[in-house]
Amino acid sequence: MADGNVAFPFTPEVEAATAPVWKKVRTRVTPFEWRAQAPLIAEINRLKKQKNAVILAHNYMTPEIFHGVGDFVGDSLGLAREAARSDAKIIVQAGVHFMAETSKVLCPDKTVLIPDLRAGCSLAASITAADVRLIKARYPGLPVVTYVNTTAEVKAETDVCCTSANAVQVVEEVARQYGVDRVILLPDEFLARNVARQTDIKIIAWQGRCEVHEQFTATDIAELREAWPDAEILAHPECPTEVLEASDFAGSTAAMSDYVTQRKPKRVVLITECSMADNVAGDAPDTEFVRPCNLCPHMKRITLENIYEALLHGRHEVLVDAAVAERARAAVQRMIDLPPPAQPARYDLVKARHHVDVELI
Ligand code: 13P
Ligand code: SF4
Repeated sequence: MADGNVAFPFTPEVEAATAPVWKKVRTRVTPFEWRAQAPLIAEINRLKKQKNAVILAHNYMTPEIFHGVGDFVGDSLGLAREAARSDAKIIVQAGVHFMAETSKVLCPDKTVLIPDLRAGCSLAASITAADVRLIKARYPGLPVVTYVNTTAEVKAETDVCCTSANAVQVVEEVARQYGVDRVILLPDEFLARNVARQTDIKIIAWQGRCEVHEQFTATDIAELREAWPDAEILAHPECPTEVLEASDFAGSTAAMSDYVTQRKPKRVVLITECSMADNVAGDAPDTEFVRPCNLCPHMKRITLENIYEALLHGRHEVLVDAAVAERARAAVQRMIDLPPPAQPARYDLVKARHHVDVELI
């Protein structure tokens, strides 16, 4: 299927079976595209049942994947929790490689597939296990919190993982447990800076960046405010601090989605990856989405065609060395075992206006 063409016709049965999905995506997908996508969606959903497989789809998947074939959709934290709970034999990770590794670490007895092995992440690529060992030698006794956007080998070197949905909570909890006032938070410099503004714990940070979110600037937000004065602006905490300071709300992809579906703003801007707005739009018909966004080239490697191929041929299997997986699992499990936050994870932007610096390694 080199060109992504599949010989499945758009029959009346396919049209009827996929009608609820079409309702969600029809403002984002043309009828012409839909006639090619709908048969694949129906076939993928049939194969999933036949093979006892589930698809975990991140919020940055394109709408036909997100609404069409995702059994569980959400942010990194939600998908990790679903992986831990799943009783399917096969997990297809519609997301990037670190997410598939996390699923494998949490479910060592399941087959975990990623449709394209090249679906990486600039944050995960920014730091190695050897880097973490050097950092620990430099700061003996200080706990290391790693963002889930890291390899399993990096997670194996650390005390506890976090996602953008729970980073403040994890940092405060680990500091309390270790009886310290400083925590190492790796590898996203901007997430670390944004967390530092929410807590009295001092943060030691690495200079990793998300290549998608680092591109947004305060000037972008000022221009948006001028063009759309009534739009509510929501930003992901991987953005630079100046962007969060100029926004109305900041939170994980799931927190942004909840904000829109619960508060139903008239007009909104999501300062994050492009597919996010397309997916939330399917569940928020009364909100208008202004779309300045950046594409994540890694997330966009996942397509309906390669999900279909992954299920059909059982490829590409993601494996993690057993000893590494055991240590990484402890770090991820400590995060999952934390009590859920009292309110949906969000960054308190009023508190965040106080300037707090981080120590950069
Ligand atoms: P979330 O955990 O908010 O889904 O973010 C993951 C990610 O890769 C953001 O760039
Ligand atoms: Fe990584 Fe950024 Fe892409 Fe998320 S959006 S997967 S953090 S490069």
